[in-house]
Amino acid sequence: MSLLQIKEVSHGYNSNTFFKWKDRSKKVLTNISLTIDEGTCLGLLGTSGAGKSTLGKVILGLERPQQGQVLFQGHDIYTADKLIRQKIRRDLQVVFQDSYSSVNPRMTAESIIGEPLENYEKLTIAEQRRTVIELLERVGLSEKDLKKYPHQFSGGQLQRINIARAISLKPKLIVLDESVSSLDMVNQTLILELLSELKKDFSLSYLFITHDIKAAYTIADTIGVLEKGELIEFYDSKNQFFSSEHPVVKQMRGSILAEHPRFRSLPTRISKT
Ligand SMILES: Nc1ncnc2c1ncn2[C@@H]1O[C@H](COP(=O)(O)OP(=O)(O)OP(=O)(O)O)[C@@H](O)[C@H]1O
Ligand SMILES: [Mg+2]
Repeated sequence: MSLLQIKEVSHGYNSNTFFKWKDRSKKVLTNISLTIDEGTCLGLLGTSGAGKSTLGKVILGLERPQQGQVLFQGHDIYTADKLIRQKIRRDLQVVFQDSYSSVNPRMTAESIIGEPLENYEKLTIAEQRRTVIELLERVGLSEKDLKKYPHQFSGGQLQRINIARAISLKPKLIVLDESVSSLDMVNQTLILELLSELKKDFSLSYLFITHDIKAAYTIADTIGVLEKGELIEFYDSKNQFFSSEHPVVKQMRGSILAEHPRFRSLPTRISKT
């Protein structure tokens, strides 16, 4: 069953120009329709400025689209009644690229991860601490990290804290907006592995926004390509993406091949898996 359905979504930002007769709305998304099924990851690829983060914000309920609908478990996230919208807010979480600016530098790991629990669950102090410790352990950290502040963690560790916070309410869908992009290759791989495990263990769905084909290939089940606000391609499997003849996709593939000569054999290797 579809967890999330995006139906003919179009959106633009007002440029607030003084000259009111000029075209004030810059089109950023045009007629986007796609779905994410339960327990699957949609990799959303596109070059900078393609509209990926805007689509993420539309899905998270942060940017009401000018046209179209976002349905979560069949409910329109912008017009559903208050109780349903509250439930959707729990079920939809986000992890951004910049792990440091996503957290309050004056809060300990315990309070960062505990914040959503405090807002939504009625736990005793001891229960909440136990839950936070379990979450820390689930993302590869430990009880020793409870009282640490953001500056005492590496970027990769802090992204684990952000992931722990995102899964604390057992959401159904996490929007990962370039969540591994600022990490080094080793940490990228480790975090992608962690995300894949969590997806399996908690039947999570992801919208994995990235410009990194390799990262998308590692984690995504389906792949969409956004270009200048339009969903130009949608693939039900990653292998379809690698054999696509679409010029934009070929260019994307070409860029990683040029960047990393070792990946020249990637399409053939992948087609064997
Ligand atoms: N709040 C905003 N107000 C006005 N314009 C915006 C706003 N946010 C984004 N835009 C514009 O919308 C377009 C798409 O931006 P968006 O951030 O969605 O792209 P992106 O695909 O996520 O790019 P990147 O890969 O660089 O993160 C860009 O031209 C951007 O300048
Ligand atoms: Mg972006």
